[in-house]
Amino acid sequence: MTGFDRAIRVENAQLWYGKGETGTHALRGVSLVAQPGEVLMVRGPSGSGKTTLLQLMGALKVPDKGRVTICGETTEGASSAELRRLRLKRIGFVFQFFNLFPTLTAWENVAIPLDIRGVDRRTAERQARDLLAEVGLADRAHHKPGQLSGGQRQRVAVARALMNEPDVILADEPTAALDGVTGALVVEAFRRLAREQDRVVVLVSHDQRVENLVDRSITIEDGLVVSEAGPVHAASSGLSRSLR
Ligand SMILES: Nc1ncnc2c1ncn2[C@@H]1O[C@H](COP(=O)(O)OP(=O)(O)O)[C@@H](O)[C@H]1O
Ligand SMILES: [Mg+2]
Repeated sequence: MTGFDRAIRVENAQLWYGKGETGTHALRGVSLVAQPGEVLMVRGPSGSGKTTLLQLMGALKVPDKGRVTICGETTEGASSAELRRLRLKRIGFVFQFFNLFPTLTAWENVAIPLDIRGVDRRTAERQARDLLAEVGLADRAHHKPGQLSGGQRQRVAVARALMNEPDVILADEPTAALDGVTGALVVEAFRRLAREQDRVVVLVSHDQRVENLVDRSITIEDGLVVSEAGPVHAASSGLSRSLR
C-alpha cells in the first residue's frame, strides 16, 4: 500500500493532569515516530510519563498541546466517538496483568471481541486458534489461565489484542509480572508480529532485560525524551537467538 502512512507520529506532545500548583506536567514536549516492522521500547523510571505517552499513542487521550497522528489520522480535535472508532480500527492493547477470565479457556478468552460482535462459536474458535498459533500457543487452546504459565497467559492476551487485526500493538509493562525467560518469549512474540506482519509495536517498560531484545528504545524522564538508542537488536541478539 503506497502512500498510506501506517506509523504513529508524536509531535511535541504536552499533557497536564490538573491545573496550577497541584497539577502535574506529565509530558513536556515529546516527539517520536514508531514505524511498522519494528518494536519500539519506551523506557524510563516510574512516574516519567510512559503510560500517559502510550495513552496518547493509543487515542485514549489527546495531548493538550502538540499532535499525535495514528496511521494518518490525527487525534487533535476528534470527538470521543471518533477516537473510539480509531482505537477499534487500528489498535490492540496489552496490559501488565493479562486481564484474562479465569473460567474461560485460552481460545474463549481470545474470542471475547468476537462474542461481543455476535460471531458464531465455530467461526470464533477457528479465528481464535489461528491467533493462538501466531503467538506459539496452538497446543494450549483448551487450557484455562490457571493451567498456563505467566508468559503463556500474556501471549493469550497478545493473541486477543490481535483479534481486530490492528495495525498497531501497544503494550504497557507487558513483562513486569514475568520472570526473565518468559518475558523474553513474550518480547519475541512481539518482534515476530512486527517483522512478519509489518505492524507497529510499542512496548512501554522499565524492565532492563527487555532492552536488548527490541529494535529501538527511547528513554523518557520527567516527561521529556532524554535519549534514543538502536537499532540495538542486531548487535546483541544472543539471548533472543537462543530462544528461537
Ligand atoms: N490520572 C492522573 N491524575 C493525576 N496525575 C497523574 C495521573 N496519571 C498519572 N499522573 C502523574 O503523571 C506523571 C506521569 O505518570 P505516568 O504516565 O503514569 O508515568 P509512568 O507510566 O512512567 O509511571 C506522574 O507524575 C503521575 O503521578
Ligand atoms: Mg506506567
